Amino acid sequence: MEQTLAIIKPDALASGKAGKILAHLEESGFSLRCIKMTRLTPAEAREFYAVHRSRPFFEPLVAFMTSGPCLPMLLEAEGAVLRLREVIGSTDPAEAAEGTIRKLFAESKERNAIHASDSGENALREIAFFFSHQEILSLSP
Ligand code: CMP
Repeated sequence: MEQTLAIIKPDALASGKAGKILAHLEESGFSLRCIKMTRLTPAEAREFYAVHRSRPFFEPLVAFMTSGPCLPMLLEAEGAVLRLREVIGSTDPAEAAEGTIRKLFAESKERNAIHASDSGENALREIAFFFSHQEILSLSP
């Protein structure tokens, strides 16, 4: 089994889509191992998205991700990292395949409902960003 990190972003949480997105994830075969509601500080958002710091969308991304609470979660499935990228769809919902989470629930490329780790290495880093070993162990089945 592989683990990956997803975040239901502030737009989806504020517009009442979190439950439908969670149901979609479970119906797509992911097991929910850890979840929390949190609101990122600007420093946390800058650290989490550090790889994008030289991109023009970086400061708007930080502003959006700190605009309200979000739901980071640790998901588990066979081939979870790639599978989750397929299930969420392209960054821009206008380009996302039918039936993907971003096609169904995202407003725009900037307010795109959900984040998913883009590699196994980043999944490990992003899981550790939100969840301690102790939390993960204590919540393991
Ligand atoms: P996410 O998967 O969370 O990773 C980086 C985020 O930057 C991405 O989703 C988008 O929401 C956001 N973003 C905003 N503008 C762009 C852009 N032009 N290209 C890529 N990502 C963008």
